[in-house]
Amino acid sequence: MKLMKILGIETSCDETAASLLEIKAGRFRILSSLVASQIKIHAKTGGVVPEVAAREHLTKLLPLIEKSLTINRSPIKPDVIAVTSGPGLITSLMVGVEAAKTLSYLWQKPLVAVNHLEAHLYSNWLGDYRDSNKIQSLPKIKFPALCLIVSGGHTELVLMRNYGQYKSIGQTQDDAAGEAFDKVAKLLKLGYPGGPAISSLAKKGAKEIFDLPRPMIKSGNFDFSFSGLKTAVLYLVRERDRLSKQKRADLSASFQQAVIDVLIAKTLKAAKKYKVKSIMLSGGVAANQELRRQFRTAVKKQEPKVKFYLAATKFCTDNAAMVALAGYFHALKHESATWSKVKVDPNWELAV
Ligand code: KG4
Ligand code: ZN
Repeated sequence: MKLMKILGIETSCDETAASLLEIKAGRFRILSSLVASQIKIHAKTGGVVPEVAAREHLTKLLPLIEKSLTINRSPIKPDVIAVTSGPGLITSLMVGVEAAKTLSYLWQKPLVAVNHLEAHLYSNWLGDYRDSNKIQSLPKIKFPALCLIVSGGHTELVLMRNYGQYKSIGQTQDDAAGEAFDKVAKLLKLGYPGGPAISSLAKKGAKEIFDLPRPMIKSGNFDFSFSGLKTAVLYLVRERDRLSKQKRADLSASFQQAVIDVLIAKTLKAAKKYKVKSIMLSGGVAANQELRRQFRTAVKKQEPKVKFYLAATKFCTDNAAMVALAGYFHALKHESATWSKVKVDPNWELAV
C-alpha cells in the first residue's frame, strides 16, 4: 500500500480548519492541523450568524490551506482531498467545498465528500494523539461499537458494525447537548460558547444544590431531549432577582450533572442492548472534563468488558484532522469522486 497524503478541509460551522495527514496501512502522522476559530466574532452576537461565518471562512480558508500544506518550509501536494460537505450551515459548507473542488480540479486529485458526523466519529481513532512529529498506529477498535456524538448541532448515538456501516439508534428531539450548554450559559450571562464557560464555573459549584430534571432518562428508546432542562434553568433564573456568583456556579454544576447523567445512562443502556465491544465519545461537548471522567468510570464499573475510547480533547471540537482521517477510510475503499460530482448537503444524515 502506498503512503497517502490527505488534505482535510472543514468549514461546516464556525471553525475554519485545514489539516495534512500522512498515512499508510494504519500508521499515521498528522503533519498539520490548523484551526482558525471565529469564537471572538460570534461572542459579540452571542451565537453564530451564518452569513458572518461564511464571510470569515472566505477570508481565512485559502491562507490556512496553504499553511497546512507547507511542511518544513516546503509546499506539499496531497494525493487526496477530503472535505466536509454536510451537515452544517449551507453557506459555510459551500466555501470549503468550492475550495476543495477547485484544488481537486487544478491538481487532478480525487476528492472525498465527508459527512461531518462521520468525521467526529473517526476522531475517536485519534484519542491518544499527542505529538505531531511522531508516527503512530491507529487503534484497532472492535465492532460493534457504539459512538455518542455530542456537539453544538448534534446529539446522536451511532451503532457502528464496521468501517462505513452506521446506524443511528437515537438522537435529540430538540436541542443538541452543546446547544443546551450554550443557551444555559446565555441565561447565566456567561458568554459564548457556553460549554467551556459552564464547565469551568461548575468546578466552583455544588451539583446537588438544584434539583433539575433528567429528560427522557427512563424513556424506552435512545432519543434525547434537552429543551426542558434549559427551560427549568430559565424558570430558576426568573424566580430570582439576582443570582449570586456562587448560585450561578451551583446552577452550572447542577445543569452539567443533569446532562452527564442522561448521556451516560442512555449510552450504557444502548451498549447493553446491542452487546457492543467498544464505546466511543466525541464531539465538542466531549471536551468536557467532568463528562470524560464520569463516562470512563461508569463504563469501567457497569460494562467492564467493553473498551472505552475518547477523542483527544483537541480533536473533540471541530478540526480538519478528523475530516482527513474519515477521507482515508473512504479512499481505502476507492470511494472518492471527481470534483464535479461533489455537492453540499446541509441536511446530510449519517445513517438511518
Ligand atoms: O463539535 P463542535 O465544535 O461543533 C459542532 O459540530 O457543533 O461543538 C461545539 C459545541 C458548542 O456547543 C460548545 O459549547 C460545546 O461544543 N463545548 C462544550 C465544551 N467545549 C465545547 N460543552 C461542554 N463542555 C465543554 N468543555
Ligand atoms: Zn462538529
